Amino acid sequence: MAELRATVKQVLSQLAESREARYYLTQFSSTDRMHFAVVKVGGGVLDQQLDALAAALAFLRNLGLMPIILHGAGPQLDAALEEAGIETVKRDGLRVTSPEAMGVIRPVTYRANRQLVTALERQGVRAQGIQHGVFECDYLDRDRLGLVGDIRRIDLEAIREAVDRGVLPVVASLGESATGQVMNINADFAARELIWAVEPHKIIFLTPTGGLLDESGRVISAISLRTDFDYLVSQPWVHSGMQLKLQQVAQILEKLPDTASVSITSVENLARELFTHRGAGTLIRQGEQILE
Ligand code: ARG
Repeated sequence: MAELRATVKQVLSQLAESREARYYLTQFSSTDRMHFAVVKVGGGVLDQQLDALAAALAFLRNLGLMPIILHGAGPQLDAALEEAGIETVKRDGLRVTSPEAMGVIRPVTYRANRQLVTALERQGVRAQGIQHGVFECDYLDRDRLGLVGDIRRIDLEAIREAVDRGVLPVVASLGESATGQVMNINADFAARELIWAVEPHKIIFLTPTGGLLDESGRVISAISLRTDFDYLVSQPWVHSGMQLKLQQVAQILEKLPDTASVSITSVENLARELFTHRGAGTLIRQGEQILE
């Protein structure tokens, strides 16, 4: 671990000295703090790579950047529900949430949220867990899905206040109904709505594979949706999970200016993805970037 940290440090200091890195740092710092990036962290990454994740985010913070972090807790919920003897049922890919299941989901989500906040603070970065008050929900389909929230309104105040104070916001995928019933939100839905509300310059998905993979399992470096989308979704090797991801990203970018881009990368490659031209992950844009 110490060795890994030393390597990371070395890579980072090299980055900090390069012109390329400075170019991106200037670009990322030019928008106001709140609009740099939304980073979506899956529950698996949170679970498996907590310290490396915190270090990668701390690196950004130490450069003066304020990513807004949104996390899920899927694998943690699966495990805790199983332990509680509650069967996990998914409909349309969504976790059917009975009141009983919510009794498990809520504390487990809080715990995942606190773990990231604590790990960030161990890195010397101030962070604030935001577990409620952001996503106002209605029932998506009460009969079929139970307490699954459909986001109706987003309140950015808590996030904005944290960012203004230089504290990294760590947002959980929980919401409330107008009357205060806690609701479970699919983390991808929460990410999408948060991204639309914040309109960040960069959107970052941190995944274990670190990008979308081509036919032979290599990370696809860049995708331009206008030219590549139809081709890609028609390819037999593009499995349903990847199709879904592509559609999800296309939908997100549709509502944002062409300057916005999505990077799907891993914790290890985050710095390289952000601060080099070549990147390390999959960069997705609406169309070709017009270089200024
Ligand atoms: N650093 C730039 C960015 O974050 C370019 C990244 C290129 N990445 C890639 N996978 N082709 O926007």
